[in-house]
Amino acid sequence: MDKLIIEGGQPLHGTVRISGAKNAALPLLAATLLAPGWHTLHNVPDLRDTRTMLKLLEILGAKWERSGKTIRINTDKMTGVEAPYELVKTMRASVLVLGPLLSRSGFARVSLPGGCAIGARPINYHLKGFEKLGVTTRLEQGYVEASVTGRMQGATIFFDTPSVTGTENVLMASVVSTGETIIKNAAKEPEVGNLIDMLNAMGAAIEGKDTDRLTVHGVERLQATESTIIPDRIETGTYLIAVVATGGMVTITDCNPTHLPALTEKLLLCGADITVADQAMTVSCPEVGSKSRCRLRSIDITTLPFPGFPTDLQAQFMALMVQGDGVSIIHETIFENRFMHVAELKRMGADITIEGTRAVVRGIGSDKLCGAPVMATDLRASASLVIAGLAATGTTEVSRIYHLERGYEQMVEKLQGLGARIRKVSE
Ligand code: EPU
Repeated sequence: MDKLIIEGGQPLHGTVRISGAKNAALPLLAATLLAPGWHTLHNVPDLRDTRTMLKLLEILGAKWERSGKTIRINTDKMTGVEAPYELVKTMRASVLVLGPLLSRSGFARVSLPGGCAIGARPINYHLKGFEKLGVTTRLEQGYVEASVTGRMQGATIFFDTPSVTGTENVLMASVVSTGETIIKNAAKEPEVGNLIDMLNAMGAAIEGKDTDRLTVHGVERLQATESTIIPDRIETGTYLIAVVATGGMVTITDCNPTHLPALTEKLLLCGADITVADQAMTVSCPEVGSKSRCRLRSIDITTLPFPGFPTDLQAQFMALMVQGDGVSIIHETIFENRFMHVAELKRMGADITIEGTRAVVRGIGSDKLCGAPVMATDLRASASLVIAGLAATGTTEVSRIYHLERGYEQMVEKLQGLGARIRKVSE
């Protein structure tokens, strides 16, 4: 297994380019199943998760070719209707093929994802939404079997809490249907907006993008089209936090600054300087004394659906707050078990106490975090440990980095380009 070796304490300098968003690429890849023909997707990140989704599309009969960041996918012949356990267990987002398969074939068999490191993560909202559209679902030997006779029928669907992939799955199931579907309390994440743009370009009629009420006017059919994946806001946020945690000055390009309102606000409150351009952000921390590190103010955060503070940046922000000048309360409201990084950060000297859904982080200031061997437990927890390692004095070894490779394109190379002393080695 590979691990990362990080010699910390090096401020980051330079320019880093942001890749396409993993969580937009996955639903857009799944959406190619909705209509036959050649689909073209630009700015597709080459990640373990996007490769898993492409493997799944292949199992279902699709053919694809990659040229740089562009992928062309042909979905003329659909020969499969099943997402097997072997794939779903490695990537929960495989459930995103349920909606498109139901729309295209009227039947789908998809392994029910189990719990994962960050929480139970049921898919009951997805299934309830499908049932409202006239789909029959049943659980058979760990698989969800869903079927519908004829077209799906428009309905009003209400989500108890906004679900990102739930909204995406129900949208994909309902675009080809009779009547009108209204999704209330829909997720407003930019990745949902990216999918809506693609579906509308394919011939769908969806109104309400970026709001929590989506109206889908059912159409008879869709056609293949060309779409571009939006920049990864979580990758952008991870680099913003890494720069503030280590000092230095970095320009982040090919990003969308409007997709990170809550994080930008919090980083400014911490003491960072951020300059925003059209598709770029420059971040730095004013130097303090002889050390090129800023004195970080401790700030509280609460994770919330967009435009609130993203749960996918909570672990990384905690690695920053560990170095704060006071107490920071980090409240995780989306997933019930997303504090797995706490025990690892404590091994590096962090002072953190968990009280239910809150973590109380007592800042130890800059330069007190010490390198240590730590273990990654999920994708964003891994990124948090990398940030802590970059900021710490001494050597940090991060093992189980396959989590990181699921969602960060060329992270080691990008950080090396910013002057970080980080390398990947085989254990
Ligand atoms: N929920 C239910 N039932 C459902 C669906 C969701 O109870 O049927 C609950 C979840 O357990 C959670 C909340 O609703 O408490 C919101 O979960 P959501 O459905 O929005 O999460 P998701 O769609 O499974 C996506 C991202 C996650 C990200 C969350 C929240 C993708 C492929 N995944 O997951 O990304 O954390 O939204 O923003 O889009 C990551 O990239 O590291 C990651 C975990």
